[in-house]
Amino acid sequence: MAQDVLNYFLNNLGGLFRMRRIYPEGSKQVLQSAKQAHQRLSEWGRSVRITLLGQDLIIEDRRIDPIPFSFQAFFQSLQQLGFESIHIEADAEAEDLVDWIEHIVSKNRTPYQSHKIVAGSMNLQQRTSPQSLLTRSIMGYLGFLAEAQGILTDLEARKPEGIVRAREVVCTIVSRLAIGRELFEPIRELKNFDDYTYTHALNVCILSSALARALRFSEEMVNTIAMAGLCHDLGKKEVPKEILHQKKALQPEEWQFMEKHPFWGAKLLLEIPNVETNYPLLPVVAYQHHMGYNQSGYPKIQHRLPYYPLHFASQLVAISDVYDALRTVRPYRPALSVAKAATILIRDALAEKLNKEYVSAFLLLLNILSPGRKVVLSDGTKGIIVETHTGRPLCPMIGDDQGRIFDLSEPSAPTIYEIEEDPIPDSPQLQAVAS
Ligand SMILES: [Fe+2]
Ligand SMILES: [Fe+2]
Repeated sequence: MAQDVLNYFLNNLGGLFRMRRIYPEGSKQVLQSAKQAHQRLSEWGRSVRITLLGQDLIIEDRRIDPIPFSFQAFFQSLQQLGFESIHIEADAEAEDLVDWIEHIVSKNRTPYQSHKIVAGSMNLQQRTSPQSLLTRSIMGYLGFLAEAQGILTDLEARKPEGIVRAREVVCTIVSRLAIGRELFEPIRELKNFDDYTYTHALNVCILSSALARALRFSEEMVNTIAMAGLCHDLGKKEVPKEILHQKKALQPEEWQFMEKHPFWGAKLLLEIPNVETNYPLLPVVAYQHHMGYNQSGYPKIQHRLPYYPLHFASQLVAISDVYDALRTVRPYRPALSVAKAATILIRDALAEKLNKEYVSAFLLLLNILSPGRKVVLSDGTKGIIVETHTGRPLCPMIGDDQGRIFDLSEPSAPTIYEIEEDPIPDSPQLQAVAS
């Protein structure tokens, strides 16, 4: 029944697009179609995610086959303009739908972002064929994304069932990661995708659990860290959307709002029944994830209190958090490449803002410091990694173009300053999963 409403909404969206192509902007036929689509969206009562993957149309995590006739012309236009991901908020108004359709009808290829609708390309580094492994990975990822959205909405309303669902979902994510990297690949590939709030929460959850597994924490701790990753930014709900989506640098008073989200997140989590007793680490990570390994971040600890180290779960989630934020398109900058994001992690680790040991493990997970990778050292030397020391990926052996070898594990040796870009081949792990 609910699914029928969603199908009707798709038909109405297709109808709205058709009407706007026939009738001028602002005409009563267009407005009438927009109202019908809005009515269906209200009946559905939740946000809607539309994904175009090659010739496939995916709504939430469900592939629509065949594509309804009334939606086909709209689908083709979205395809031609390069729109692959559309997120429509549950409370989008008829006017919001009209504004977005106007963007499409005017053949505007730039990503679209209003307070209620976000549409853009997924910026896939590898293009996908409909049945490729990456397509299947992305569909699996989309299923978890729909779950994450429901869970975070429940938690924002302080419903304890959100915690129960979070526990179930992270257990599934962790067991999937144990058998392959298919959840890891969409994170590596998708850079300009959907509503940042939910993708970021899910990405930090997946990356944190993968890192916790790599560090050989107990299964129970991996699950808890995954939950902490999912919930780490809940406090952003209290930050006004105009500040969250701002395209320019934040003013000092706006930063004051932003810097309160760790406190608000911890407070919100503590208000959910049984979290304090059963999952005390969740509010701790929400509170500490921006503090920095050397506590140079925020919130600041009052001088009168004794110095205490950050919980290791907070140190770990902080790395996934920084990495995912760098890899995602933000209103004020494009997404950074894997190499650039890894470079920043290394610099943060050397500046003691992030835990060096955990960053090393994370870079191993990304497979970014393997032999053959070009790097620039802190003394300006350019070279290639020829060998890595087990357990010390930040200090490999480097060969330069004059045949000299530098061992970066020597105390006086320079450090890696920059990881150079190079084309990233298809992941061997991913191919292994396919075979
Ligand atoms: Fe945060
Ligand atoms: Fe975050």
